[in-house]
Amino acid sequence: MLGCIVVDRTLVIVKPDGVERRLIGQIVGRLEAKGLRVVAAELRTLDAATAEVHYAEHVGRSYYDGLVSFITRGPVLIVVVEGPAETWKVVRTIVGATNPLEAAPGTIRGDLASDLRENLVHGSDSAESAQREIAIFFPRLA
Ligand code: CDP
Ligand code: MG
Repeated sequence: MLGCIVVDRTLVIVKPDGVERRLIGQIVGRLEAKGLRVVAAELRTLDAATAEVHYAEHVGRSYYDGLVSFITRGPVLIVVVEGPAETWKVVRTIVGATNPLEAAPGTIRGDLASDLRENLVHGSDSAESAQREIAIFFPRLA
């Protein structure tokens, strides 16, 4: 519709390894360089209950306990970014494959990570996940 500004938001988390390795600037910088806009951000250490809600779909997986321990071990930067459309997909392309050893060069994981668990960054995997995850961390934006 003429005059209608369409925006789409998704959730990004710079995981504890990213904060520990002083990579917040690079990670957020790559998203900004693509043209995405940061609309909310908070640095905090997740408690187990929040981590379990966020990663609920992974309950029962062999890596689940390790994942919850990892994501709660220190501060993370939780960010909502905004773009023109399908922002979750744009972020996932910039982030790269889950396994950094398979992630393409030029992606965050492909360039900066080498561990399957400690892969630096979370990005919502669908529009529905983006909505659900934004509501967990930034209810005022939901
Ligand atoms: O983060 P992404 O959506 O790419 O991957 P996922 O399949 O939703 O898994 C969530 C997170 O669990 C990953 O980013 C890894 O940190 C961790 N993971 C793991 O430790 N071992 C696996 N085999 C798979 C995932
Ligand atoms: Mg995922």
